[in-house]
Parts: sequence; structure tokens; C-alpha cells
Amino acid sequence: MQHIVQELTRVLNLLVTPRRLRHIYSCCSFARKLAKLHCINEERVTVACLAHDAFRDVSTSKLLKIARAYGIEPNGMELAHPVLLHGKIAAEYLKRRFKIEDREILEAVAAHTSGKPNMGEIAKIVFLADSLEETRVYEGVEDLRRLAEQDLDEAVIQTLRSKVCYAMKKEYLLLPETIEMWNWLLQNKRPKSVTVNDQDGVEGG
Ligand SMILES: [Fe+2]
Ligand SMILES: [Fe+2]
Repeated sequence: MQHIVQELTRVLNLLVTPRRLRHIYSCCSFARKLAKLHCINEERVTVACLAHDAFRDVSTSKLLKIARAYGIEPNGMELAHPVLLHGKIAAEYLKRRFKIEDREILEAVAAHTSGKPNMGEIAKIVFLADSLEETRVYEGVEDLRRLAEQDLDEAVIQTLRSKVCYAMKKEYLLLPETIEMWNWLLQNKRPKSVTVNDQDGVEGG
């Protein structure tokens, strides 16, 4: 895997901005720390982290062109916001350029923005590192970092909760996979969870 890491590093220097590069390296270092603490393969986590934002600074028209060349059919949301394709494209790039068939690495890269249900351990770490690496500054991030070091699954729930709450507050769109991930996490980790009731939170409902 060492040659893949070297080649990815070279490609990143050509594809992303210096600011993005700092995020990617910081993501790698936090993800490796989590991998070590939770006994998950560090090399696989490193490859996924290095690749996750490789196409994040590529223009929307180029993203659509690459998606087409790679046989990725953008859905409605991706057509409206092609930046959403950067993870799927990076995963396909890993597959084609390095013959990587490791499904856990590929899903971690492809789903790092939206999240997804049935995530593997590598995807959980990349998802966490993407939001919690050291250059990220927002209220509560330090508590989430500490939690991620202690309890991976609980940290994924709380980090997703923080992202969804932020999105709701800002009235941003939510991706269906993100909602599916939330439901999957709760059904697995909190089997007694209930759904929103038609009277909940509605005054006089
Ligand atoms: Fe990303
Ligand atoms: Fe990222």
C-alpha cells in the first residue's frame, strides 16, 4: 500500500488547494490515531483519508464530465449540486487507478459526505476524522474528539446529530442517505428509539 500512499500524495499536490491539503493531512493524522485506539488497520484508513477529498476542488463541470466518463449516473440532487459527486468519483478513481477492490475503503471514500446506513469501521473513522480533525473549529468539537477516542459508535451518533442539527438550523438540504444513516445508527444502538409523533413539538397538536 506504500506506493499507493506515495502516488496519492503526488496527485493531491496537483488536484487540491493548500488549504484542502492541510485538511486532508490533518484528517489522516486524526484517523490514524482513532484507528490505533480502536484496533483498525491504519494503512487502509490512511488510503481512504488521503483519497476522500482528492476531487473536492475540481470544478462542477469537470466533476460532471468525470462522472460520465466513469459511468457514474448522477441522481437529481447530484445534478443540482455536482460537488456531492466528489466522494463517489474519488472511490472510482481508487478502483481504476490502483485496482483497489477493498469495499470498506471504497465505501468510506464514496460516502464520506452523505454518510450511509450499514457503514463499516473504516467509513466510520473517515466520517469522524472529516468532521473532527484538528483544523476544524466549532462549538463542541473538542468533546466530540474525546468521545471518538473512547467510543466510536457513540461518537458517530453525536457527530451526525451535530451535523444534522446544524443543517436544520441553516435550512440546508438533507441527503436521504444521511437520514437513513441516522435511523440505522439509532435502530442498532438504541433499539428503544421511537419515531417523531404527530403531536411532538407541535403546539396544541
Ligand atoms: Fe469531502
Ligand atoms: Fe474532507
